[in-house]
Amino acid sequence: MKERARAARLEQRVIGLVPTMGALHSGHLVLVERARKECSPVYASIFLNPKQFGPKEDLSKYPRPLEEDTAKLEAARVDGLFLPDAADMYPPGFSTYVQVEGLSERLEGKSRPGHFRGVTTVVLKLLEIVQPHFAYFGRKDAQQARVVQQMVGDLNLDTEIVLCPIVREGDGLAMSSRNVYLDAEERKAAMVLSRALRAAEKEITAGVCDSLQLQQAMRKVLEAEPRARVDYAEIVDAETFEPMLRVGRRGYAVLAVFIGKTRLIDNLLMEPSEAGTELICHF
Ligand code: PAJ
Repeated sequence: MKERARAARLEQRVIGLVPTMGALHSGHLVLVERARKECSPVYASIFLNPKQFGPKEDLSKYPRPLEEDTAKLEAARVDGLFLPDAADMYPPGFSTYVQVEGLSERLEGKSRPGHFRGVTTVVLKLLEIVQPHFAYFGRKDAQQARVVQQMVGDLNLDTEIVLCPIVREGDGLAMSSRNVYLDAEERKAAMVLSRALRAAEKEITAGVCDSLQLQQAMRKVLEAEPRARVDYAEIVDAETFEPMLRVGRRGYAVLAVFIGKTRLIDNLLMEPSEAGTELICHF
């Protein structure tokens, strides 16, 4: 992969990379589509990165439908698929990690200690190997994209991080490789995340900017669902992921909720309109 990518750079072609862990769905394929509009060649990587899973997390049961994934990427017309194996990425003696301080310790980082350290370490390796001009990330994992963007800036990497919208099922549930863990009842209950975000959006449309009120609107919806256990439901700044008292600048309503044993995340992006007179929500 390194040689091919280097040759493409030498030919002054614009390289795009879509990093994934496989079990691909439309959320991933939209990233490929966007990359194809802006880059040629477009490479996708599938690497189930052990370093970003905690000891009690789902690494061993994470779906690995490699044949289907390969077919989907071929159909999406990626120019190259990078499938490193764990022994090559992390040979014996591997001992260098990258960590974005502060940002990595909040929300997802707090609930999943070491998670972002694993993400930034593997993403830095992928960016070094492929040397893309653009790398595509989904807003579904908004904090992850922000952490990666911070790393790219801090380390002067020559890659631009592109953030793409959330792809949802017809009923609002954000697509995720983890949705397959949900049984039929849980699948229905999982709609509560998007309903809670919609409730916050409704408040914002009615002119509410106070975070406490927005949080209460989300919690009211979440608490009415007996199968849901809230990990966090917060209003945060889109740059720092620190709590915001009032939504006056770009921010997110972020949710992490257990449905049974499955932990799901989702978010609503809120930003002032160009004139600054109202807040626009992106669901
Ligand atoms: P993975 O969960 O496979 O996701 C790969 C990319 O797809 C991420 O950027 C994620 O935000 C995006 N994505 C997933 N579901 C989406 C949806 N419903 N809508 C839009 N985008 C979506 O995220 C990872 O892998 C890993 O942490 C990785 C970055 C590959 C590092 O190992």
